[in-house]
Amino acid sequence: MKLKTSLVATFALALSLPAFAQKAVEAPGGKFVKEAEQMFRTSFRADNPKYWMTRLEQDDTMKTCLQYRDNPPRPIGQKLERQNAATIRYPVDGKLIGDWKEGEKLAAVGTGGHIGFIQPDPAGRVRGGNCYACHELAKKEVAYGTIGPSLHHFGKIRGNAEEIVKYAYDKIYNSNAFTACTNMPRFGLHSWLTPEQITHIVAFLVDPESPVNKD
Ligand code: HEC
Repeated sequence: MKLKTSLVATFALALSLPAFAQKAVEAPGGKFVKEAEQMFRTSFRADNPKYWMTRLEQDDTMKTCLQYRDNPPRPIGQKLERQNAATIRYPVDGKLIGDWKEGEKLAAVGTGGHIGFIQPDPAGRVRGGNCYACHELAKKEVAYGTIGPSLHHFGKIRGNAEEIVKYAYDKIYNSNAFTACTNMPRFGLHSWLTPEQITHIVAFLVDPESPVNKD
């Protein structure tokens, strides 16, 4: 009988653990979250470039995705997607397909924009898309991450009709326009890549001659 009781107790404890663990995670805006944020902000010294501080401000999308732990109710997600879609800007000449050779380089560059205290980027260092960190693209690059789906044969499979080209451009410019709380960075919105650079990466994805669509 005693053994049975302790077994039941163990089970009850095991079952209650997830709920207990959940309670231990504080909601955004709580006392500890605020303290941690304050500590983080004060770790930036007064002589650091001012624009670094702007990167600490969360916009509506970041706040809402944090609040719902990246899984907002669908109507809220759709509202965020519409807000993000409204930010998309196009190149002045309206051409969305650039030079795939430039795009190939940009997709592979994983440097630029570092705000390191010890070793920040040298001035003028090119920023890249670092697409391989999350996607497979050209077959010859074997080091790639898998957080995002494979984009190998993107153009070969989907073609390069106007709506596919626009989708690729929009997705790179502001990925959250399609998936409210995606893990993919918003390259255009944050001016990480210029509209022109994005057209080169689009070409890398859709041009039949691009290594993405060969092999
Ligand atoms: C930090 C990870 C990450 C990086 C870096 C990243 N992506 Fe993504 N990407 C994702 C994830 C995750 C998805 C799938 C979820 C979604 O749709 O948001 C995705 C989806 C996509 C899609 C849509 C695929 C489809 O099947 O419709 C395209 C196109 C794309 N990424 C292109 C790129 C390009 C080009 C770059 C580089 C400029 C890039 N991504 C950089 C994570 C990333």
